[in-house]
Amino acid sequence: TPKTILVTGGAGYVGSHCVAELLDHGHRVVVFDNLRQGHVAAVPPEAAFVQADLADEAALARVFAEWRFDAVFHFAALSVVGESMRDPHAYLHGNTVTSLNLIRAAVKAGVMKLVFSSTANLFGSPKRIPIDEDEAIDPGSPYGESKFMIERALHWADRCHGLRSACLRYFNAAGAHPNGKLGEDHSPETHLIPLVMDAATGKRPHIEIFGDDYDTHDGTCIRDYIHVCDLADAHLRVLDALEERSVRYNLGNGTGYSVREVISSVERITGRSVPVKIGPRRPGDLPVLIASSERIRRDLGWQPRFPDLDSIIAGAWAWRSAHPHGFRGLAAAAE
Ligand code: UFG
Repeated sequence: TPKTILVTGGAGYVGSHCVAELLDHGHRVVVFDNLRQGHVAAVPPEAAFVQADLADEAALARVFAEWRFDAVFHFAALSVVGESMRDPHAYLHGNTVTSLNLIRAAVKAGVMKLVFSSTANLFGSPKRIPIDEDEAIDPGSPYGESKFMIERALHWADRCHGLRSACLRYFNAAGAHPNGKLGEDHSPETHLIPLVMDAATGKRPHIEIFGDDYDTHDGTCIRDYIHVCDLADAHLRVLDALEERSVRYNLGNGTGYSVREVISSVERITGRSVPVKIGPRRPGDLPVLIASSERIRRDLGWQPRFPDLDSIIAGAWAWRSAHPHGFRGLAAAAE
């Protein structure tokens, strides 16, 4: 049966791919986004769009009064690890206050299901790789800490009010929607794959590798890159699971690639060579993050449809090369 879903941050990278997945399944979507990082051109015409900030409690109250939501998908947040090391307050305050406002408004309106965009940065000192849900929580940065604080708020919202939540700890979201309409476009861009593609096309002079003296096979950091559409698929599956209880899942492919391996893949896919410079380590970075997603595979039958790095990067490249100016170029073209 079609549901009505409030999607905060629905104009952003992961949020917009989840909106597409919800619409493809016949659900109704209301996007709530302040457009600080999101793009209006990423919101499809079939979705309702409210431009507002979660800090604005009156705007939130109006949205909950206007629609009867079955659930909330909560993506809106600051999400850059390095930035959070320079400005911890912006993250510890900004991400939590907005989320607390949202949780209170949802409970008040009787909307008792929430799917939350959490992070692998919760696992700052993993004892076992791949990292499963039993790993100790020890956030690697103020960003990760802010996500953990929200996970705790959701825990108590369940205990005290019966708000069922799913905390999905994403590893590294990557790739673009196969429909060609959505992709990754941050400003400023800080993420490895888009930056390496820009170095391949000459839009940037080189890619700087943040440290090549980590204790890994080639000295560079290892990450688990998961296709955004596989993340989106997981969101729809947990929505059904929330009928019964709150859940937490780690979401990745279960395979790690080093920064150098990502660069090689971009070179293979684009057929161009990427100039590289070695720089210092970036504060807040963890050497190895690889997910075990056995629990969501077992419980909900989730499995990645795009597990292979080259195919994830090929999709990212298809979007990036078709839209060299990202959504900005698209908005301009439409005018
Ligand atoms: N990197 C470089 N050079 C760059 C950019 C990145 O060497 O110019 C390296 C980073 O040091 C890191 C890897 O590439 O080792 C990936 O970096 P990203 O910035 O693309 O992603 P992060 O791993 O820092 O963070 C991402 C999300 C976070 C999330 C985290 C979970 O942005 O929101 O994955 O693993 F918390």
